[in-house]
Amino acid sequence: MTSPQHPVAPLVVAALATVGASEISAVHAILHRAGLVTPTTHFAYLGLLEPDKRELFAGDIRSRHFRVMLVDMSSGDQHDVVVSPSDDAIVTDRVLDPVRDGQMPVVLLEFGLVEEVIHQDERWLAAMARRGLTDVSKLRVNPLSAQVAQNDDEAGRRLQRCFTFVQNTPEDLGWAHPVDGVTVIIDVVTREVLDVIDYVDLPVPQEDGNFHLASWVDEPPRAGLKPIEITQPEGPSFTIDENQVLSWAGWNLQVAFDQREGLVLRNVTIEDHGTPRPVLYRASIAEMMVPYGDPSPQRWFQNFFDCGEYLLGGFANSLEFGCDCIGDITYLDAVVAGNDGQPRVIPQAICIHEEDAGILWKHSDNWNGSSDSRRNRRLVVSFFVTVGNYDYGFYWYFSLDGKIEFEVKATGIVFTSAYPGDGADGSPYPFASELAPGLGAPYHQHLFSARLDMMVDGLDNSVDELEAMLMPRGPQNPHGTGITQRVTRLHDESEAQRMADNSKGRVWLVSNPNVQNRLGRDVGYALYPEGQPTLLADSESDIYRRATFSTRHLWVTPYEPDELYPAGDFVNQHPGGAGLPEWVKGNRNVENTDIVLWHTFGLTHFPRVEDWPIMPVDSTGFVLKPHGFFGRNPSLDVPESMGDHCHPGGEHHAHH
Ligand code: CO
Repeated sequence: MTSPQHPVAPLVVAALATVGASEISAVHAILHRAGLVTPTTHFAYLGLLEPDKRELFAGDIRSRHFRVMLVDMSSGDQHDVVVSPSDDAIVTDRVLDPVRDGQMPVVLLEFGLVEEVIHQDERWLAAMARRGLTDVSKLRVNPLSAQVAQNDDEAGRRLQRCFTFVQNTPEDLGWAHPVDGVTVIIDVVTREVLDVIDYVDLPVPQEDGNFHLASWVDEPPRAGLKPIEITQPEGPSFTIDENQVLSWAGWNLQVAFDQREGLVLRNVTIEDHGTPRPVLYRASIAEMMVPYGDPSPQRWFQNFFDCGEYLLGGFANSLEFGCDCIGDITYLDAVVAGNDGQPRVIPQAICIHEEDAGILWKHSDNWNGSSDSRRNRRLVVSFFVTVGNYDYGFYWYFSLDGKIEFEVKATGIVFTSAYPGDGADGSPYPFASELAPGLGAPYHQHLFSARLDMMVDGLDNSVDELEAMLMPRGPQNPHGTGITQRVTRLHDESEAQRMADNSKGRVWLVSNPNVQNRLGRDVGYALYPEGQPTLLADSESDIYRRATFSTRHLWVTPYEPDELYPAGDFVNQHPGGAGLPEWVKGNRNVENTDIVLWHTFGLTHFPRVEDWPIMPVDSTGFVLKPHGFFGRNPSLDVPESMGDHCHPGGEHHAHH
């Protein structure tokens, strides 16, 4: 086997390190001096401009550039700027056209602003008074990203569409009391209420949902749960250096954090007999979108791009030891830019630990009498965000057998509505569940796009679709029992737009035609999709155009450094067609070249009664497994369990 050199030179590692606080300050100073920062300018985004991988690997390591998205919340002016602190200069400055390009991501100011303005609006006050809601101090206004302009009056404006909820006391969970049927449209730059649309009078659900108040939960704490303590008396088995390069059990990866994507993992390699071999150049969740499926007039527009519109990395939680994470935990702080362009540290945003992962392999042999088992463990790198009503945990797992898994844990509060009641024939309302008396939860999806910049033993990779196939009866298969695997090469971007098919066990194998294993076959890693539904929306709908990425489980594109976001760079109020659907028009070659996989996965959520008032974690994700990457099971070198846990043949707390 030919072993490529370890690809990650120290200078490359430094070039890709996560943004530092001093860099953010330097960028701010340059923009301020150039007159681009006024008292009403908000920094929607600041992040490392992704260097061109081809230049990095050619040793052409330039100074670090940063991309900044600015919006002036009094004029509406928007600048997409690239800044070079080491050259003390602005590299490019592009002014956005709001009609063609859409809007910069939502800034924090908008959350408070909408309630302040709408509380003063006579039409909204009248709509509330008609429902008997006269105590304005109890009415919370929830701004929702606006989808796209629906008429000339909305065109080119920075909009939010807003719903109202009742919060009876400062401690009350407002999501329990939606004031359904009224939608307010507001221009957050001019601070004008454009329209208050009072569609339908639905009763405000009255039952509280205050799970967070011990006094509200009418049960004693569940008895009999004894402590589980996780101890690692010699400490964790990983190390992490000053550039956040993490090394564990042969795995090596650089941990970075971005305001838009959250965790970004770079240069993931795994050792094979002492040689580090690359698997991934860069991995992140590049977009996530939550489309709601209730088409009624007050909420048909509801869908949220939590990366592109809200920049979910900025909403990372500070994790608490013993609650959010247990074991021997290493935390990393995240540094992002605040809306004022100054560094904002999110303490303990990234959690790193290792955990037991059950049986790795096991066999008791009837012929030779041997009995062996090994325990698996995995390295976990995670963070958690709160985006409005929902909370999401993002977990990357690396195992001793070369497996990489990704899991999203979705929890928090489901988005609520007033349940309109069953039909005259007793049939339930077709677009929402009823969770509590009169309280609805519209059906929706949580669709994620993993951007997997693959590097299986080198930059040039290919993709095959593998699936199970029943062999037709014939001379080679006289009894009709032949099972074979169909292998289909995906040559170009149009062939490489694929749907999962669990009835055929369909997986996608990323291989390197230039590196062979000891059997002479191309080394590879396979992507195992969950195969849940992709976007459920008509192909002529606005959301289909804006989130076309989510209509296929797999896309493959050739690497381009500026192709980072599958719904385009600017998503807020963008008319659609950007990102993947635009890039693939060229139908570029994706065989034996530097490729990126875009994998859509997620949940189609028909909320259960048990999802109220707070939703137990629901999971979705994908798996990458070595597939002919190694010459045999790569975990034969894992030692027998340490400590005094494993006593082959012994009895421990046995009951007969
Ligand atoms: Co949900």
